[in-house]
Amino acid sequence: MKIISSIDELRDHLRGQLRTAFVPTMGNLHEGHLSLMRLARRHGDPVVASIFVNRLQFGPNDDFDTYPRTFQADAEKLEKEGVYILFAPSEKDLYPEPQEFRVQPPDDLGSTLEGEFRPGFFNGVTTVVLKLFSCVQPGVAVFGKKDYQQLMIIRNMARQFSLPTEIIAAETYRADDGLALSSRNGYLSAAERAEAPRLYQELTALAENVRLGQAPIAELERHAMAQLSSHSWKPDYISVRRRSNLMPPSADDLAQKSPLVVLAAARLGATRLIDNLEI
Ligand code: PAF
Repeated sequence: MKIISSIDELRDHLRGQLRTAFVPTMGNLHEGHLSLMRLARRHGDPVVASIFVNRLQFGPNDDFDTYPRTFQADAEKLEKEGVYILFAPSEKDLYPEPQEFRVQPPDDLGSTLEGEFRPGFFNGVTTVVLKLFSCVQPGVAVFGKKDYQQLMIIRNMARQFSLPTEIIAAETYRADDGLALSSRNGYLSAAERAEAPRLYQELTALAENVRLGQAPIAELERHAMAQLSSHSWKPDYISVRRRSNLMPPSADDLAQKSPLVVLAAARLGATRLIDNLEI
């Protein structure tokens, strides 16, 4: 595996490749990331992964400085997965001058849910993803459904900018007890780790009750939030949305059983976890 930090060198290595499969990451790789690499390999060749902790998507009170950086271990894992190039630019390589041009996701998709609680987050994500796409020029790129709203925004960005990159969605990788794998799980104490699967359990129960039409959706959302709060969580949101555009479902959507998804974000101690479940 080649480890490359310069954009020019990366382009030299990839010149002429028509179906490069790309997986952007911020490192601290776990089995979830490795499952994205395997999916990438099924859809394209060669596989390029990137590791870049993108300052633009962190707010002033977020964990940019403490975000786990485990480069050596990450590189070894990627090598074992048959990744051809690990693109690992420094901040100077990727942002040699202040990144003044930005992608601005539309308000209805970018300022709801995660966008409401992390202002500027999707502006930072889409800006770096567009820039990484410009460096790698992938035919296909893989993103996890764990970050459901991110996946949807990137998909819409690729479509609206007519990017020549097919966006592939990977299923969320879960531990045996249901907790979605995330680099931030490493922040959890042993007691918090034991408690953490409750988020997925609440989503599962809520999804089942929506399917059965048990109660008005707002009531089911409030109940799930209250359940988490009573176990020391601080939920930001638990919200049932239409899969197609992440808008709240109308009465017609419910009557016609339109595809829905329930998305959640909640703090357990100092760690903010997100998860979602398609209904
Ligand atoms: O999902 C992530 O790890 C990041 O948001 C991404 C897509 C690598 C952009 O920095």
